[in-house]
Parts: sequence; structure tokens; C-alpha cells
Amino acid sequence: MNIAIIGSGGREHAICQKIYESPLSKKIYCIPGNAGTAKIAVNLSINLNNFKKVLQVIKFYKIKLVIIGPEEPLVNGLSDFLRKHRIKVFGPNKYAAKLEGSKSFVKYICRKKNIPTAKFKICKNKNDVIQFLKKNKLPLVVKADGLAAGKGVAICNTKNQVLDFSNTIFKGKYKSSKKLVLEEYLDGEEASYFLVVDKETFKFFGTAQDHKRVYVNDKGPNTGGMGAYSPAPLITKKIENKIINKIVKPTLDYLKSKKKFYNGFLYVGLMIKNNEPYLIEYNVRMGDPECQVILPRLKTDFVKIILKTAENKLKRIKINWNKFKSMTIVICSKGYPGKYQNQIKIKNLEKLNLKRNEFIFHAGTILLNKILFSNGGRVLNITTLGNNFLLIRKNIIRLIKKINWKNGFFRKDIGWRVIKKQ
Ligand code: AMP
Ligand code: GLY
Repeated sequence: MNIAIIGSGGREHAICQKIYESPLSKKIYCIPGNAGTAKIAVNLSINLNNFKKVLQVIKFYKIKLVIIGPEEPLVNGLSDFLRKHRIKVFGPNKYAAKLEGSKSFVKYICRKKNIPTAKFKICKNKNDVIQFLKKNKLPLVVKADGLAAGKGVAICNTKNQVLDFSNTIFKGKYKSSKKLVLEEYLDGEEASYFLVVDKETFKFFGTAQDHKRVYVNDKGPNTGGMGAYSPAPLITKKIENKIINKIVKPTLDYLKSKKKFYNGFLYVGLMIKNNEPYLIEYNVRMGDPECQVILPRLKTDFVKIILKTAENKLKRIKINWNKFKSMTIVICSKGYPGKYQNQIKIKNLEKLNLKRNEFIFHAGTILLNKILFSNGGRVLNITTLGNNFLLIRKNIIRLIKKINWKNGFFRKDIGWRVIKKQ
């Protein structure tokens, strides 16, 4: 069957690779893709806001299954549009995508269903902010309500910081947000829990921890993610049961009560404090770079899982995982997450002799006249599998040194928490 995957990051390259390995796939189309996906799929450059054009192309290439990678087209309703035109889609509808697209929507469900989360107030103006400030201790976390590409959250240690950041949100810096969520700071350890969900059921799809800060020792500004590892040993069976019963089931029940059924990956972002999970955020997709560590551990045919989920027959599938641990380190363009240069040549990749269980997933890359150039802040993901996180990391760093890309930098300490505990 011909399959399309929408997106252009490391996540989408990892997904593309899994589709490529499946006996169920024929031709793969990546919209728009990157230099890595170009090797195993046909990249198509289409404006994703032009739904009609996307549909036209899907029909033209006889694409039978569409997987939507990133949040924006989901929040904009691309799934609904394609389904209306009888295309098989993996990814939640516009209503369910509000789980990522609106933080106040999630908090509303938390309140209604008694889901453990940070104490909060949805603020529409400065007065609301001041009221919450009066009753709660610092630090506090201010969050723009809508999508903000990871930039709409500030952890504030002073009242002035709270007021200043709130003000930038009310003034419209984050276009999708006219309101904000102000909440208490939770002091714990973060972990991510993944599920694949259809109308009838949901199944475990891995755990991971990522590293959002740009520099070693978790210093510097937040990024999309500098590296990740899977599994996350922090999520014990006991905590997993709490996540399912106290957080996931009530949320999916709420959507069901509205007759808006979830379909796709669900990313549950958690803070674990004294062995209790608190919901920090939902994402309505796989994580990036979490996907790059979870998918290489999957044994079951990926396309089969996706297809059955899109058909609401996930119940029939058993999902198996290999026994390996995995880690990815992201090579970024110097300057990221601030300003950086694009179109810097990347040599040496072709010379690498990757072994089994070693992968390079492209993110911000582009081929120009068959030559590989950088084309983004996060450029390459080097993923390897093994039995010991320290040895895995050493192997990744060995590969990065071989690539020796002069415009790149990376974090050498990915997995420090889990390595310390090993
Ligand atoms: P979010 O977009 O809601 O995931 O927030 C981005 C990041 O801010 C999270 O990954 C956490 O590292 C941090 N964060 C968000 N909310 C809280 C909170 N209530 N307490 C502590 N850290 C938080
Ligand atoms: N790595 C964080 C995310 O995908 O949202």
C-alpha cells in the first residue's frame, strides 16, 4: 500500500524508516520530508495549510494511509478534513487535538475529572494573575494557552517575572493565546509515557525521558529536545497503573462523553513527585526526539499497528518490544535555539559504516544538487541501542566524532540521571 507521512523532523524520518521496513508498504511519500527521508521515500513539498492541495496529491499518488507527525496540522484539523474525504488517517481530530492545542482545555478536563496536575488558574487578565499570585508561593509557571512551539512556558521566581511574562501573552506575542494558565511549580522528575489510541482501546507505546535544556547539566534555554533515552526506569509498574487510572482513562472518557474519539499517538508529559504522577502536558503526537528512541525498540510491524488503529481495530494487535535500551543525541546547528546559519555542508555521513542497531535520523537537512546541507536548528539524531546506557552514549559520541561536523554541537551528558543510577 502507498503510505504518506506528514512532517519533516527526526521523528518523521524514524517513522519513515519503520514504514520502509514493513512488508505492507509499497511507496512512501513524505510531506515535506528531509534529506534522510528522501533516500527511502518520495519527498513532496506542499503547503500543509492548503488542505485541498494535500488531498489532491494523496488521491493522485493513490495513497491509502496518511500518518500525521507534528501537532500543527492536527490542531488545524487536517485529520477531520481527510477523513471527511474518506482517506484513512492516523492522528486525532481537531477537537481531541486541543489536548495539545489548548492548555486551558486540558486543565478544564483535569478539574472535571479530578486528574492530578499542578494547582492552577486560567487567567484572562492581569487581575486574575494578581489574585493567584496573592494566594500562592513562588516559583510559579506561566503558560500561554495555545501552541507556541515550546516557547510559551516560563518558570518564574519573582512576582515581576510572572507579571511581565503574563503581559507579553495578553499583548498577543503568542498569536494563538489570548489567555494563559498560571500554575504552581512541581518539584520532581519529568518522564514521558506514550500510548497508541483508537475509538475502542489504547495500548502502551513506550516510555522516555528527554533533555529540553540546550547545555550540559540542564542549563540554558529550552529547546525542542537535545536527546532522549528509552525506557524511562522512573516509570515503574505501580506508577504506570496510576498514570492509566488517574490520568489517561478519565481523559479518554471525557472525549468519549463528547463523542469525539481519540485516534493516534498520545504523549503524556508527567512530573513524578514522591511516586505520584502529575500531568504536566499532553501532546497529540509522538515526541521528537522521543520517537527516535522508541521506534527502534519496536518489534511488531509498525504499519500493521498504524493501519489497525486508523481502522479502530487496535484491539486485535499485540505490540511487542525488543529488550534493548536506546538513546539518541541531537546534533544542532551552532547558535540554536537562538540564531543559527543554514545551508552549511555536512560531509562524512556517507563514510560511516553503521552497524545493526545504529541509526542516523535526519531532521534539519536538505539535499541541494545531491549534496547534504543543514536546514534547521536540530540537524541530525544519532540513535543507538544496547544493554547499558553509558556504553550506548559512548558509542553515539564515537559516531558524532566521526561525523565531525564543524557547525554542530551536542550535549555530552544525555541520560545523566539514569547513568548515575545504573
Ligand atoms: P509544557 O509545555 O507544559 O510541557 O511545559 C514545558 C516545560 O516546562 C516542561 O517540560 C517542564 O520542564 C516545565 N514545566 C511545565 N509545567 C511545570 C510545573 N508545573 N512545574 C515544574 N515544571 C514545569
Ligand atoms: N521532545 C518534546 C516534544 O516532542 O514535545
